[in-house]
Amino acid sequence: VVLDYSMLKNRQGCSFVEGSWWGGVQMGPPDPILGVSEAFKKDSNPKKMNLGVGAYRDDQGKPFVLSCVRKAEALISAKQMDKEYLGITGLADFNKSCAKLALGADSEVLKSGRNITVQTISGTGSLRIGANFLSRFHGGPRDVYLPKPSWGNHTPIFKDAGMTLKAYRYYDPATCGFDHSGALEDISKIPEQSVIMLHACAHNPTGVDPRPEQWKEISDLVKKRNLLVFFDMAYQGFASGDIDKDAWAVRYFIEQGHNIVLSQSFAKNMGLYGERVGGFTVVCNDAEEAKRVESQLKILIRPIYSNPPMNGARIASTILNTPELYSVWLGEVHGMANRIIKMREQLEAGLKKEGSTRDWQHVIDQIGMFCFTGLKPEQVERLTKEFSVYMTKDGRISMAGVTSGNVGYLAAGIHAVTK
Ligand SMILES: Cc1ncc(COP(=O)(O)O)c(C=O)c1O
Ligand SMILES: *[C@@H]1O[C@H](CO)[C@@H](O)[C@H](O)[C@H]1NC(C)=O
Ligand SMILES: *[C@@H]1O[C@H](CO)[C@@H](O)[C@H](O)[C@H]1NC(C)=O
Repeated sequence: VVLDYSMLKNRQGCSFVEGSWWGGVQMGPPDPILGVSEAFKKDSNPKKMNLGVGAYRDDQGKPFVLSCVRKAEALISAKQMDKEYLGITGLADFNKSCAKLALGADSEVLKSGRNITVQTISGTGSLRIGANFLSRFHGGPRDVYLPKPSWGNHTPIFKDAGMTLKAYRYYDPATCGFDHSGALEDISKIPEQSVIMLHACAHNPTGVDPRPEQWKEISDLVKKRNLLVFFDMAYQGFASGDIDKDAWAVRYFIEQGHNIVLSQSFAKNMGLYGERVGGFTVVCNDAEEAKRVESQLKILIRPIYSNPPMNGARIASTILNTPELYSVWLGEVHGMANRIIKMREQLEAGLKKEGSTRDWQHVIDQIGMFCFTGLKPEQVERLTKEFSVYMTKDGRISMAGVTSGNVGYLAAGIHAVTK
C-alpha cells in the first residue's frame, strides 16, 4: 500500500463554523519574499531599492529580456505552429537539449541512455515532481537533508510531498563563507540512503559555493554514506558566466558514480521567469531502468497538470538548438554574470570609500544572484526604514537589483547601519 503522506501531514480539518464551509480557515502568513515587494511598492522615496526578489535587472534597473529570446520568439512566430497538447513529459527537443546542457554534450550517461529528463514547470515544478517521485519510490529514510540555510521554498516543497526535512551545516556566519568542516562533520552522520540536497552553483541565499577540492571531499563522503543526491541547479551560467564551469559539480558527481536526480530552471539563465521552463532528470543504472522511471514519472505528472506548457519550452529549445542563437545566449549569460560581479566589486569599494572599517571581502567572494551581507535583522530594519532599501530579514540582497546608479547609495546605507 502506498500511503499518500501529503494528505495526512497537511490536513488541518476545519469544521463547519458559523454556517460556512471555510469559517475555520485561519489567515496564513504572507510569503516572506513577496511581502518585501509589497512593502516596496508602497514606498514613495524616489531612491528606494528592491533587493528582495531574485530577478535580474539591467544597469538601468529594468527587467531584462535577452535578445536571443526575442529572436527565438520571432522564429517561432514565423512558423505559425499549432497549439496541440505536448506529451506528458513535454517537448522532446527541449528535454533532450536540457539534459545535454546540464550533463555536457559528451556525457557518458546520455550516450548509454541511462537518463530520463522530463520538462517541468520551471525549477519549482521540477523540485516538486522530484519530491513526489522520492516520496513514492525512494525506499530509504524519508529525510531530506538541506544545507543550512537553503532556499526558503525547499522546505514546503518536500514537506508537502510527504518528506521530512533535516539540515547539515553549510554557512559560517563568522567568515560569511562555506563551513566546510562543519558540513563534512554533519554529512558524516547522515543515516545511509537518506537524501541530500546540494545547490549545484550560486547557492541561494548565501552566494557561497564549495571550491572544486571541497566538492571532491563532499562527493567521497556522500558516497561513503550511500546518500541519494538531489542537485538543484537554478543558476547554471549565472555564477561564473560559464555554463560548463557552473555545471562542474553535477558532472563530477556523475563521473564519480553517483546516480543523481537533478532539477533545472531556465528562469534566471534565459530570463524566462514567467514562462516557467525547467527540467527534472533522473540518472539511472541503465537504459532499461530509465524507461521504467520514465513510465512512473508520466503516471505521477498526468494527474497533477497533465502536460507542461509549450511556449517557454519552444523558446528555450530554439535557443539551445539554433547555433547562432546559442552563441548569442552564451554571451548574454556571461554579460549578466559579469554585471553582477562588477556590482559586487563596486559595493565593496563603496563601503571602503564610506570609511567602513569592516571586512567586506565576502561581498566579492560570494557568487551568483545573491549576497548574504551578514547584516543583523535590526540593521536590515534600519536600512529599510531610513534608506528605503528593501531586502529579506536574513540580510540577503539580490545583487541583480544593484546598478552603477544606486550602488553608492546602497554602500552609504549599509555603512550607516553597520558603523
Ligand atoms: C535554489 C533555487 N531553486 C529553485 C528555484 C526555482 O525557481 P523557478 O521555479 O522560478 O525556476 C529558485 C528560484 O529562486 C532557487 O533559488
Ligand atoms: C537519454 O538521452 C538521449 C540523448 O539525448 C536520448 O536520446 C534518450 O532518449 C534519453 N533516454 C531516455 C530514456 O529518455
Ligand atoms: C524527452 O521526452 C520524450 C518524450 O516526449 C522521450 O521520448 C525522450 O526520451 C526524452 N528525452 C530525454 C533526454 O529524456
